[in-house]
Amino acid sequence: MTGTMTIKTVLTGITTTGTPHLGNYVGAIKPAIEASRSEAVDSCYFLADYHALIKCHEPETVRRSTLEIAASWLALGLDPERVTFYRQSDIPEITELTWLLTCHTAKGLMNRAHAYKAAVQENVDAGEDPDFAITMGLFCYPILMAADILMFNAHQVPVGRDQVQHLEMARDIAQRFNHHFGSLFVLPEAVVDEHVAVLPGHDGRKMSKSYNNAIPLWLSEKQLRKSIMKIVTNSLEPGEPKETGDSALFAIYSAFATPDERAAMRQAYADGIAWGEAKQQTFELINAELAPARERFEALMARPGDIEEVLQAGARKARERARPLMRRIREAIGIRALG
Ligand code: TRP
Repeated sequence: MTGTMTIKTVLTGITTTGTPHLGNYVGAIKPAIEASRSEAVDSCYFLADYHALIKCHEPETVRRSTLEIAASWLALGLDPERVTFYRQSDIPEITELTWLLTCHTAKGLMNRAHAYKAAVQENVDAGEDPDFAITMGLFCYPILMAADILMFNAHQVPVGRDQVQHLEMARDIAQRFNHHFGSLFVLPEAVVDEHVAVLPGHDGRKMSKSYNNAIPLWLSEKQLRKSIMKIVTNSLEPGEPKETGDSALFAIYSAFATPDERAAMRQAYADGIAWGEAKQQTFELINAELAPARERFEALMARPGDIEEVLQAGARKARERARPLMRRIREAIGIRALG
């Protein structure tokens, strides 16, 4: 065995809700696509449409989000030949594993999940029944997520801070299963990138759909310019020196700028650049980066059948990987042929 390097499996899921905004692009999509180009990793990226069902019960929205998010990742350069790119609901082994894990997961573990606890707390605060509008899907969400990860023996799972608890739960679940049935699962590790920029939105708070301050990724050039013009600034006049530290506009500019461009903009602030001019430059910078991808995105959206084909090819690859492990798991737990 000469010259082999250990290839790590890196897996991550993208919940298919809504349409991506600049914060998703800078904080998650762009770094993930860059990472997927490394030779040392075997990457699995999937559309977590079963997870999306927990929040969204509108059939047309479910379909539309899946399409838009698949088109976004492909337009931004995810290479489906190089990575395994699939849709969760195309992989029946994931759902099968979800049940097998469910039978070995303590209810008490799920009781401790932050997302579930927050939903209960909200009900209590509102004077409702604690279980009001809480589905078993929400309650069991971490088990589905554990199955996503364990089915592919992922070593590393890049996620946001809010998902770290889910990774701990996946490890707990895997450990318990391995303890009973032998070493079936790799214990996955959460990878939280501390360096990725948290992009502010129009009002300076973290860009988020729920704050209604997000700049969608796929605006037309005209709409993008208009949206950037709406970023809140202070009332300093042209010619007056401006601070960069508390400027959402500067933070957004910086996320797209090279170090030299950033330094030049910092100087322009000190020299009293007019807000309108700083916004125009921010628009031009972002638009230059997004324009080619925007064209690809529109072309892809016009041919949903092509995206479907890419996903079907991805599903074949993913199922080939999942099947052998599923066979071993079934055998190990006693779901076996009788003859
Ligand atoms: N729950 C994740 C989120 O909301 C999405 C997700 C689903 C995921 N399954 C996963 C992430 C498996 C990593 C691995 O961001």
